[in-house]
This record gives sequence, C-alpha cells and structure tokens, in this order.
Amino acid sequence: MSPSRTMDQTSLQTLLLVMPLLCYSTNQARLNGSPSRSQFFKRESVSLICEEDDSSAGWTFMRNTSRETRAECGANWGKSSSSLCNMSYMDPQDSGVYWCESTEGSTSNSITITVTGGAVILQSPVLPVMEGHDVSLHCQTKRPPSKLPADFYKDGSLIRTEPTGHMTIHHVTKSDEGLYKCHISSHGESPPSWIYVTGQEVRVFRRLLSFLY
Ligand SMILES: *[C@@H]1O[C@H](CO)[C@@H](O)[C@H](O)[C@H]1NC(C)=O
Ligand SMILES: *[C@@H]1O[C@H](CO)[C@@H](O)[C@H](O)[C@H]1NC(C)=O
Repeated sequence: MSPSRTMDQTSLQTLLLVMPLLCYSTNQARLNGSPSRSQFFKRESVSLICEEDDSSAGWTFMRNTSRETRAECGANWGKSSSSLCNMSYMDPQDSGVYWCESTEGSTSNSITITVTGGAVILQSPVLPVMEGHDVSLHCQTKRPPSKLPADFYKDGSLIRTEPTGHMTIHHVTKSDEGLYKCHISSHGESPPSWIYVTGQEVRVFRRLLSFLY
C-alpha cells in the first residue's frame, strides 16, 4: 500500500468519524423571540419560538430567573402550545435565561431576556450577530415619539452619541462583542445587554456540509 493511499484512508476515516457529530450540531434546536430583542418594558409581550430542521418533536420551554431554575413554560409562567411559549404582561421578575428542550432530548441555544420597570430600553438583537453583518441598535423610551438623542455605552465606556437614538455598527467583528447600554437624558438609562458576534466559520462549515451531502 502506498503512503498516499494510507493518507487518503486516514482522512476518509476521520471524516466518517466526524460527520455524525457535524450532523448532530446542525440539527440543534434554535430558540428565538418574537419580537427578536433582548429588552422589554414591563407589561410588554413576547412569543418564544423553537425550531429544529427536521423534527416534529414537542418542545418544553424552560427558564432560569433570579427566583427559579429550570421552570417550565405553562406551569408558573407563560402559555405553551406545541412550538410556542407566549408571555404577556411581562414583569421585571421575568428577566432571565430561556431555552427549549425537545422530548427527544436536544437542547437549544439560550437567550437572555431583560424586562425593565424603567423608562428606557436598548433594542438590541437577542441572537448572536454574524461577523461582517450590520447591527442596528435603538435606544427607546417607553412612550413615543422616541427619536431623542441617546448616548451608547459599550463595556461601561461611552462609544457614541446619536441624535435620533439609532446606532448602526457596520461590518461587526469579534471586537464589537460586549455589554451594551444606552442613556437618554431626562429619561434615564437602559439595562445592559450582551451583544454576541459569531464567526464566519459556522457559515463556511454549513456550506461545506451542504456540499458534502
Ligand atoms: C439553569 O440553572 C441550572 C441550575 O443552576 C444550571 O445548571 C443551568 O446551567 C442553567 N441553564 C442556563 C441555560 O443558564
Ligand atoms: C401566542 O401568540 C401568538 C401571536 O400573538 C398567537 O398566534 C398564538 O395563538 C398564541 N398562543 C398561545 C398558546 O397563547
């Protein structure tokens, strides 16, 4: 057997070993919110939506808050149907980490939702932003019109003042990841929320996978 032949076999074997893992990771359930943002005013509503590529499995929506862990939607919070969990008239105590679990045992990404009794929220994406994409942030007061000048902070430092309260970060990179908040004078400050940035690798990975299959 020639050395190159051995090499080919080894890489093929490696690929065959790794493939089920790749498939498994792409089949992961995805949790999103509608509206898809991190912060809400008290008494607002949100629908949590759980999706998986090829599964009709039932979902359980779970959350951790400051008062409870692994609390299931429909028990003490939320209204659950097959792939949705609705929360109406949210309260600051609904702030926490949310995820879903399928009856087949797969667990989704988790999202962090913050509900404030205050007068200002930062509208920022609840899901990680893809590297290279633009991200829009909106500093919003409870009652419109809210095209007010706002200061935006990242990791505690003022990064920009925007006259209409809208800020766009163009072509995000990993260095844009951080804890963001905003402030509107005479109204107040929003809670802080993390903005996560995911690398291009995932996309390349997916493309490679779709090429292989
Ligand atoms: C929820 O809380 C449990 C118990 O503290 C912990 O093990 C788990 O990692 C938490 N889940 C998330 C998604 O934060
Ligand atoms: C959840 O909210 C959506 C959108 O408002 C609605 O269509 C759906 O019927 C609601 N489901 C439950 C279980 O309340």
